[in-house]
Amino acid sequence: EAPFVVSAPGKVIMFGEHAVVYGKTAIAGSVDMRAYGLAAPRSDQQVRLVLPDIGVDVQLDATQLPRLAAGDLAHPGDVEALVGQRIGVPDGPGRTAVLAFAYLYGRLCAGSGAPGLSLCVRSLLPVGAGLGSSAAYSVVLAAALLQLGGQLQALGATAADRRLINEWAFQGEQVAHGTPSGIDNSVATYGGFLEYTRGRDPLPLPSTHALRVLITNTNVPKSTKALVAGVRALRDAHPAVVDHILDAIHGISATASALFQSPADGGALERQMSDIVRLNHALLSALGVSHPALERVRDITAARHMPSKLTGAGGGGCALTLVPAGAPAAAVAAELAAEGFCCYETVVGGPGVAI
Ligand code: PMV
Repeated sequence: EAPFVVSAPGKVIMFGEHAVVYGKTAIAGSVDMRAYGLAAPRSDQQVRLVLPDIGVDVQLDATQLPRLAAGDLAHPGDVEALVGQRIGVPDGPGRTAVLAFAYLYGRLCAGSGAPGLSLCVRSLLPVGAGLGSSAAYSVVLAAALLQLGGQLQALGATAADRRLINEWAFQGEQVAHGTPSGIDNSVATYGGFLEYTRGRDPLPLPSTHALRVLITNTNVPKSTKALVAGVRALRDAHPAVVDHILDAIHGISATASALFQSPADGGALERQMSDIVRLNHALLSALGVSHPALERVRDITAARHMPSKLTGAGGGGCALTLVPAGAPAAAVAAELAAEGFCCYETVVGGPGVAI
């Protein structure tokens, strides 16, 4: 069998972060910075996993890994107990990544024997920046293993294939993170834009638009938990005010959802997107989740008529800047880099998983 390449994109939250915690709608999009896996089937029942970005290179005897029966699958968190001592990788992102692999591999073995495999995954996504790097990795794992096991109909391209990949990737994410929302792996699987409301399945939007953006990593570390708690405290103190802000953010997501699905021409779409990007950032800032570094990014880009908003939890992390047609993206990127920020020129709304 021939080696094959699998890739999956990262994600940004376009609109609706924080409000989504209160049942409002958020819009996320795929960001064309991807994780890439090179999978080579092998005949010796050995499994080798190489993750050069995080220093992992393990080889395991496939016959000694657990075959996870259906009943074992309800508790992805237990994978540590099942294979923990066998993998010999210290605590940290590397160990988490190997556990997710071992879990999905075990699930594959329950249905397809114990196929040998070498898998090397590299990623262009910064880790811990809110860009969904772990979900992109999980989708690459899921798609590579399902393809290896002959469980996909058409190289991951049909609706049924994608549903299966997404379901497996979600389990990989559960091993890595406990209780993820499922939005990141859905974006990495389906690509494009996606509407998400708590308690409902993520809804891929039949969008025809892709957006040019800059993504700027402020390199300021953030705590999602502390930021979410801060918004909660503000809402407890001022419900009559904060609930209106959350509703306004919901309105922004609804507007975006309609825009993405409309056949509006590029210029009209850009103008309206500019407005809601600015509004969403202002509302997040009112909720207290911005940061001086994010405000600096916003000022620099606004001076060149490019609107920005924070993306994800805020308090640092990344900002998202719209790049209207003809805007001086390279000049702004250079200005941001000169201030010590990491700036990526990319596209939101591009393709999902590809084999
Ligand atoms: O920074 P991220 O991608 O982990 O996003 C956090 C999004 C929040 O709405 C702030 C929290 C959440 O659980 O939805």
